[in-house]
Amino acid sequence: MNFDRVAPWFERLEKIVFGDQMQVCRTAFLSDLPAIKKAALIGEGNGTFLAQFLKHCDCEEIHYIDSSKKMLDLAQKQFQMNVFPGLERMVFYHLDLSLDVMPDQNYDLVVTNFFLDVFNGATLNNVVSKIASACTRDAHWLYADFQVTGNRFQRCRAIAWVKTMYLFFRLAADIQTMKLTNPSALLDRNGFQIKWFKEFDNGLMRAEIRQRKDEFVRDAGLF
Ligand SMILES: C[S@@+](CC[C@H](N)C(=O)[O-])C[C@H]1O[C@@H](n2cnc3c(N)ncnc32)[C@H](O)[C@@H]1O
Repeated sequence: MNFDRVAPWFERLEKIVFGDQMQVCRTAFLSDLPAIKKAALIGEGNGTFLAQFLKHCDCEEIHYIDSSKKMLDLAQKQFQMNVFPGLERMVFYHLDLSLDVMPDQNYDLVVTNFFLDVFNGATLNNVVSKIASACTRDAHWLYADFQVTGNRFQRCRAIAWVKTMYLFFRLAADIQTMKLTNPSALLDRNGFQIKWFKEFDNGLMRAEIRQRKDEFVRDAGLF
């Protein structure tokens, strides 16, 4: 899987196809974040979300992780072009999280925007557990992704979009799955419970803010 080829076109394509809906979905809960010390933005791509994130979150450390060198270059360029405070708190990591370990531990926030949908069931399980085990016991998880839900019309529309996108990304980025797997049960199992959620674009996209519950973590023996 390699997003290098689509990296230069990603933002333009997104805007043509979905207007501002993906960005609205990514940023839905930014103003609801508590004080954060260390955040991991995972599979965060070209940096579209980063600028908004930096406006809302003055955390001490931000680790920006992506397996595409081109996506990371674009994010870094975006970061340098804008005058963001606290340059020294950003670290960019070129990592493939289906193979590599998380670069650090004790994250109290992880962000996965339109990232978990690139994995098949087994790899998704591995990636979610890997991320969760690098988090603190009361960490937050910001999640945005596509979903198939709602009434008959919404489901048919979502299935058509999801099929088209998987076909496109299979050809353009060689992604390993053709099926959207709902990660909700996996996130629950790792202790991250939904605090709030919102749906966008007639139910095609979903944003969630989740938090790990201390008592759940203890009972499940996660720590
Ligand atoms: C569909 S794009 C989403 C990008 C961005 N988060 C957004 O909201 O537009 C998926 C991103 O995940 C990255 N990615 C895919 N597989 C990865 C992996 N195994 N480890 C780290 N990043 C990965 C890709 O390079 C790409 O930037």
